Amino acid sequence: MKRPIAYIAGTGRGIPARVMTNHDFAALGIDTSHEWIVERTGIMERRIASDSESTCSMAADAARTAMARAGVAPGEIDAIVMSTATPDRLLPSTAVDLQAELGATRAAAFDVSAACTGWIYGMTVAEGLMHSGVIQTALVVGAEKMSSIVDWQDRSTCILFGDGAGAVVLKRNKSQATKGILSTFIRSDGTLAELLWRPSGGAKHPFSQDVLDDRSSYVRMAGRETFRHAVRSMSEACERALDGAKLRADDIDILIPHQANIRIIESTAKYANVPMEKVFVNVDRYGNTSSASIPIALDEAVESGRVKEGTTALLVAFGAGFTWGSMVVRF
Ligand code: UT7
Repeated sequence: MKRPIAYIAGTGRGIPARVMTNHDFAALGIDTSHEWIVERTGIMERRIASDSESTCSMAADAARTAMARAGVAPGEIDAIVMSTATPDRLLPSTAVDLQAELGATRAAAFDVSAACTGWIYGMTVAEGLMHSGVIQTALVVGAEKMSSIVDWQDRSTCILFGDGAGAVVLKRNKSQATKGILSTFIRSDGTLAELLWRPSGGAKHPFSQDVLDDRSSYVRMAGRETFRHAVRSMSEACERALDGAKLRADDIDILIPHQANIRIIESTAKYANVPMEKVFVNVDRYGNTSSASIPIALDEAVESGRVKEGTTALLVAFGAGFTWGSMVVRF
């Protein structure tokens, strides 16, 4: 096991107040039911941002809590690594808006695009910058306003997603430390990009009346194929992170998986040989918040005492790309 370079010094989350239950889809004319959604996904409700809430504003809420808990002032942040699939605007990055909002004047700020795996990618990048000595303190945020990119006429996707943000302060360890990131694993397969994507609205097919008419700027997903790949890839990622940390499944105190679907979570836990009692689940209350899902879950796990000093956690994610990744963290 390598010496951990970086440790999580504080966590936070930024959650919109508005709750949308499964029953609320009826008012939108969506042909679905609470029973179908619960049985197929485990989701009971999700949070939906108001018009005045943005990816940046939710990220700022999460970041302020994480910084307060870590005892870190904005001027001490060397890098802001923001993962989002829903940037507030296409140029510049949402990370620089967050930097301005927080007054983190010394930071280098940039976005990472790896969909639901984005926060794991961001943590890996931030840890690498610490390893090379470029930075000492980073803010790693996953923030998503998924409600702005889902097709509210497509029942197979609009029931799945929710809005929110999660953040951690990552700090460089002193030399003899034993807590922190013990291993990371990231991977992608771009040949599968069109199983979960937004066909238009980027540089190749910019916005036009046709794009608006055929709704091709919204998220499209081949649900069953995505499900299959998610289970396979997250199971592989669990194994790789455990191998990297030279640990066995028994050594893990808590598994915090990306919260996309309770059936995906249960299958991943089974393949990873982690009993469900050790798995953190909040998909019932938030739905799939893409790259915000793991840092939100981690913050709730810290707050409820399930993650505390000495806890060994396995974090694992999967998303569009496809991308997948994992890490083992000792607190
Ligand atoms: O964040 C990472 C990426 N995302 C995921 O990991 C999500 C992966 N996929 C899934 O979670 C599941 O595939 C879904 C929840 C999206 C769908 O569940 P499923 O068990 O795979 O259902 P299905 O797509 O096979 O559809 C079964 C039926 C279809 O009807 P027919 O063709 O069998 O008559 C759908 O039209 O369910 C129908 N259906 C619905 N019915 C009621 C699809 N969406 C709905 C709905 N309400 N909202």
